Amino acid sequence: MFPSPLIAAPMAGGVSTMELVTEVGRADGLGFLAAGYKSADDMQAEITAVRASNLPFGVNLFVPGPPASNRDALRAYRDSLGPLADHFGVTLPEPRYDADAWDSKIETLLAEPVPFVSLTFGLPDRSVIRALQDRGTVVIATVTRLPELLIAQHHGVDAAIIQHSSAGGHSAVFDAGASADESAVDVATLTADLIPHASVPLIAAGGLTGGSDIRNALAAGAVAVQVGTLFLRTPESGARQPHKDALGCPAFPRTAMTRAFSGRPARGLENRFMREHRDAPLGYPELHYVTAPLRAAATAAGDPEAMALWAGTGYRAAAPIGAAAVCGLLLAGLDR
Ligand SMILES: Cc1cc2nc3c(=O)[nH]c(=O)nc-3n(C[C@H](O)[C@H](O)[C@H](O)COP(=O)(O)O)c2cc1C
Repeated sequence: MFPSPLIAAPMAGGVSTMELVTEVGRADGLGFLAAGYKSADDMQAEITAVRASNLPFGVNLFVPGPPASNRDALRAYRDSLGPLADHFGVTLPEPRYDADAWDSKIETLLAEPVPFVSLTFGLPDRSVIRALQDRGTVVIATVTRLPELLIAQHHGVDAAIIQHSSAGGHSAVFDAGASADESAVDVATLTADLIPHASVPLIAAGGLTGGSDIRNALAAGAVAVQVGTLFLRTPESGARQPHKDALGCPAFPRTAMTRAFSGRPARGLENRFMREHRDAPLGYPELHYVTAPLRAAATAAGDPEAMALWAGTGYRAAAPIGAAAVCGLLLAGLDR
């Protein structure tokens, strides 16, 4: 089903460039475009460009959830960010909801099918999954725990990414308010726990830093792994330079989960903004939009303390080397 045991994770926010996706494909991995936060037209332009390479690839979509019901808490949080907004000279918008152009993205993917679609933050109606499959697309759910795997299988997906809590970026957990599942120490253990319940192929993701981690995940029963953080510092990655630099900087000794930037739990290098907003409310994507000007201004100012520095626990293994070299190291490790 998959052309490679190595998938380069879709990374929204400009990280998964077309260059990263094609370079991974040329190096015998499977690259994924990240459609999250993009318009359907921008997604389509990227698909057209990557398709021209004749390499297999996938597209990742954020599945929209319901609008937040705690509008007062979201407004109060926005107001509490006022002094920082003043510091950066930006105005923060009111919390707002949107469905990330879901309908038009699905329309585009039905009109111009791609080999793989992965879904994050839940599942759409079964009819959408079936329609994509009818066009020849392999549909993959992202899950973090057993009940989600069972729901995904019931929805008829072709495969499931098992995302462990060590993964960088947003947790794919269906219910953003649910606490992180810490029952498995790593993704190999989580995969081994879930394999007896799996009726579809599993892909292991989270905290994988080298050949031995990947061998363990495959030995536990995964058919492939999905790796994100190790690609963040590559020249092909569109991560902003202060983010790339912070990943190699001793001033950031750990990662942590936070919802301070987006209202949804996500793992990143722990910085001042995260420490100062440990009790940020839930509310995705409303808070993502509220903090967007702050994050942009901090990035422009080269201030990593107020940026979202998404990273998995294995970030120390991320090196400033080419994406093909990262693939080569990981795939070579599989043979040993
Ligand atoms: C910067 C960044 C952005 C991410 N964006 C997405 C995304 O758009 N969609 C998605 O399904 N997963 C996203 N992820 C999570 C990855 O798919 C994957 O689960 C994770 O990178 C695996 O763990 P690792 O980072 O430890 O390798 C992102 C991860 C990072 C680090």
